[in-house]
Amino acid sequence: MDLGIKGKYALVTGGTHGIGRAIALALADEGCHVAVCSRSRERVEKTKQELSAKGVQCLGVEADVMKDSDIEKVMSLVGRQWGTLHILINNVGGGGRWGSEIVEETKEETWLEVYNKNALAAMKFTMRTIPWMRKQKWGRVVTITSIFGREAGGRPWFTMAKMAQTALMKTLAKKAYLIQDGITFNSVAPGAIMIAGTGWEKELKENPRQVQDFIHEELPLGRLGTPEEVANAVVFLCSQQASLVNGASIPVDGGQSMSVL
Ligand SMILES: NC(=O)c1ccc[n+]([C@@H]2O[C@H](COP(=O)([O-])OP(=O)(O)OC[C@H]3O[C@@H](n4cnc5c(N)ncnc54)[C@H](OP(=O)(O)O)[C@@H]3O)[C@@H](O)[C@H]2O)c1
Repeated sequence: MDLGIKGKYALVTGGTHGIGRAIALALADEGCHVAVCSRSRERVEKTKQELSAKGVQCLGVEADVMKDSDIEKVMSLVGRQWGTLHILINNVGGGGRWGSEIVEETKEETWLEVYNKNALAAMKFTMRTIPWMRKQKWGRVVTITSIFGREAGGRPWFTMAKMAQTALMKTLAKKAYLIQDGITFNSVAPGAIMIAGTGWEKELKENPRQVQDFIHEELPLGRLGTPEEVANAVVFLCSQQASLVNGASIPVDGGQSMSVL
């Protein structure tokens, strides 16, 4: 299927590792020009090389989304180089393992940091991108949430922040003046995804028995997901064909979550 997004300009926050990197590469495979930002220069450079090898334009910015000045740096580089964005992927997030199971022992700072990293960062990039999308009468905003952006469970600061991301996308999706300008707002909610060098891989090395039990009991598919499987759903939401999908929160979890909606 031709997804009809060749030549579109895309930004993937945290697009240098894991799910974000898989999305950046998948968008480039569809012929999109892709900008990525993240804190590590090494990761940014490596991803830029991978994107360039696909024959598309790419931009890479070292930036920490917790800092407004870095968000401005990303957006002004995109503005100077491309003058617009058609696709925004709010991928930076996390904090599901931060703090302690004893919630009242977890510092207020953790709640604030997790909210900032997930919900406020997504809001800030989205607000700065909407004017470009309105002007060109076309846009796709996809935020990477979690199954805990759709149902209870997990650590409360994480679930609260992921629910806020889902609410942000759904509420913007109800704004007729934005939708009639050709913009859609959706969320993709991954379940447990195996990513080299992060949470699940580490957990598997440290507590293999527990992870195997988790997989057996919680994952109907009998395995963890891959970043590419998440990217496939995201890229479809960015396509021309997804024009009627607006305000959706799509679980990509192999059936892990409990919600029936
Ligand atoms: N993996 C899972 O099982 C899973 C499940 C549900 C939801 N999710 C969600 O999926 C999204 C991606 O997670 P992931 O597992 O793919 O993470 P990951 O492999 O750790 O990658 C995170 C990416 O974001 C960048 N990043 C992290 N903090 C940043 C910051 N403050 N400013 C700018 N960039 C930052 C990282 O690069 P630098 O280190 O260079 O900054 C990296 O490129 C998150 O929203 C997460 O909550 C993941």
